[in-house]
Amino acid sequence: MKTNEKEIVTLKRSLLFDTEKKLNKQIEMEGKSSAYYLSMASWADMKGFTHSAQFLYDHAEEERQHMLKLFRYINDAGGHAVQPEINGIRHNFNSLREVFELILEHEIEVTKSINLIVDHCFVIKDFATFSFMQWYVTEQREEETLARRALELFDIIGEEGVGLWTIDQELGKLHSTVEEIK
Ligand SMILES: [Fe+2]
Ligand SMILES: [Fe+2]
Repeated sequence: MKTNEKEIVTLKRSLLFDTEKKLNKQIEMEGKSSAYYLSMASWADMKGFTHSAQFLYDHAEEERQHMLKLFRYINDAGGHAVQPEINGIRHNFNSLREVFELILEHEIEVTKSINLIVDHCFVIKDFATFSFMQWYVTEQREEETLARRALELFDIIGEEGVGLWTIDQELGKLHSTVEEIK
């Protein structure tokens, strides 16, 4: 049976090569996110921000799960998920606030990247991948909210005196706080 190159579902696979390439790029982004959060966690730990460190360690693990979800999707569809090269991860930061500012900037970049994949899937009518990616769309909205809430803590509490200590305590509770107000 001769199949059209543009046919998404064939006997061997249900993913266009172009889409597979885009999903592998997203794997790289999630892998980098995981490494970035881990590096931030270690810095926070070293500086004595133990609650923030725990939040960041946990988040590094979450990002790894985001990456693995894509691994399974690509391979289940007959493609080949590729372990990305991870380099250029920053290890030192100027302040705890800077860490969370960088997180927000980074998460916005991830959202843009996911939106491009969703748009691509819509255009080529790959509705299975379009549907699969909706999980990431929702997840990104939550992650941006987390980062924004974190930065608000610095503004509301202030960093003077025991401020930074209190902010660290509150950052440790961030996951449950955002869950509660949802
Ligand atoms: Fe992610
Ligand atoms: Fe993320």
